[in-house]
Amino acid sequence: MERYLLGIDVGTSACKVIAVDGAGNVAAKALAAYPLVSPRPGWAEQDPEHWWLATQTALAQVLDALPDRRAVAGIGLSGQMHGLTALDEADNVLRPAILWCDQRAAPWCDEITARAGGLDGLLARVQNRMLPGFTAGKLLWMREHEPELFARMRRMLNPKDYLRLRLTGEHITDVSDASGTGLFDVRQRQWSGALMSALDLPASLLPQVVESTERAGTLRGELAQAWGLPGDVPVFGGGGDSVIQTTSMGAIDAGPLGVTIGTAGIVAGGLRACPEATGQLQISCGNAPGRWHVMGVTLSAGGAFEWLRGALRRMTPDLSFERMTQLAKSAAPGCDGLLFLPYLLGERCPHVAADGRAAWIGLTSTHDATHMIRSVMEGVLLNIRAIASLGATAGLTCDEVRVSGGATGEPLWLQMLADVLQREVTTVTGASEGGAYGAVLAAGVGAGWWTSLDEAVGTLRVTGRVSPDASLKALYDARFDTFRTLYDALRPVYQHIAMENPSR
Ligand code: XUL
Repeated sequence: MERYLLGIDVGTSACKVIAVDGAGNVAAKALAAYPLVSPRPGWAEQDPEHWWLATQTALAQVLDALPDRRAVAGIGLSGQMHGLTALDEADNVLRPAILWCDQRAAPWCDEITARAGGLDGLLARVQNRMLPGFTAGKLLWMREHEPELFARMRRMLNPKDYLRLRLTGEHITDVSDASGTGLFDVRQRQWSGALMSALDLPASLLPQVVESTERAGTLRGELAQAWGLPGDVPVFGGGGDSVIQTTSMGAIDAGPLGVTIGTAGIVAGGLRACPEATGQLQISCGNAPGRWHVMGVTLSAGGAFEWLRGALRRMTPDLSFERMTQLAKSAAPGCDGLLFLPYLLGERCPHVAADGRAAWIGLTSTHDATHMIRSVMEGVLLNIRAIASLGATAGLTCDEVRVSGGATGEPLWLQMLADVLQREVTTVTGASEGGAYGAVLAAGVGAGWWTSLDEAVGTLRVTGRVSPDASLKALYDARFDTFRTLYDALRPVYQHIAMENPSR
């Protein structure tokens, strides 16, 4: 009998469920959406009950599509990172979950850094700079603004771990998702008792931690019965989405670099040792014991292209992405000296720059809309190259680039990525399924399908390959050298603009 592993990804807009067979093929998949609520500007919340309902909806469709649901051998979990799900003594949800993209905790990041003894002290404890999206600041916000609820709080869980609670009754997270709380000693792969006490937070709030490939609960008997599954389905550790989607691209060790071009852009890879923390890159535990994951996130990648389309559509309402890429092709590589800096939302990496802004530099009267479109793409990709160079200083190699994300469905983006980085760019089987597929790979190791995560990612098959145009190397090397100088040159200007426009 063919056996299946289920991968469940609790995303920001939807829950995705896939079933994968022993050969690594996706046998069935389904998606169920839920709303994101923003009760105030900068806030982003979700009702954890929606994650649970959506999981059941998508799971039912996937199980219906399988020849025999009793062939389910295990469940792997992935999910949006950094979200705070606050639970009381009886595991009731105390308030809507505060998500990764919520900015309310920004003022608390300085407080946490100060209590940790400054940035160096913080990096020594958790290896990461405190970002507003991280869970730690949300706890402090809740303690200050919702003291009654905070007093009733007994446990915090990440989104995918709340799902685990509903599936198994266990309070468990995995090392990669724990890394994104800002309270985890990523180097030692354990909670930072030192930071918890510096913040006067009780360690009892924290769930137990396992490796991504470890068993972390068994599907509750009543659910197994209701869904027609075997009585002993194991649920494995799983991972935070941006870490485990890098695993789904096979980038868990020196060699390939994973690049995701969605609305934001992610450049990430795996290492066999925890690198020296500088606060410029996000460092997490990887999905295999003894592996670490290093990542730089740029806030505007595909999003910059979407922004430009939105702006141009005010005049040309039917302007499609296809038409934009056609127009971009008619401008010469390098855009005759025009550069675009994509910091439309400020930036996280390669610069920590909340006040950063986008800019076109080098416009002349010979430039037209085709150059502007192409330069936005080149600016996004040069910025990705800047993150890759930063990654190299932390030990990430880039022999080959593996890609995922919406923009990578467009051949011009892939070719330009290959040209700007001067590396071969490939797509692999797992990448298009993202975190859900990575969760299956980790679960498969736990279930004994593969002996290690290396063996599991070895089953990924290359589905597309794009070679760089070597004749463009000198041009893009020169463009990159100029691009790198822009942020520092503009910094004083950004400071002035921020003073004149305090609300951004
Ligand atoms: C990672 C991050 C996002 C979220 C939502 O640091 O903020 O990738 O995990 O997907």
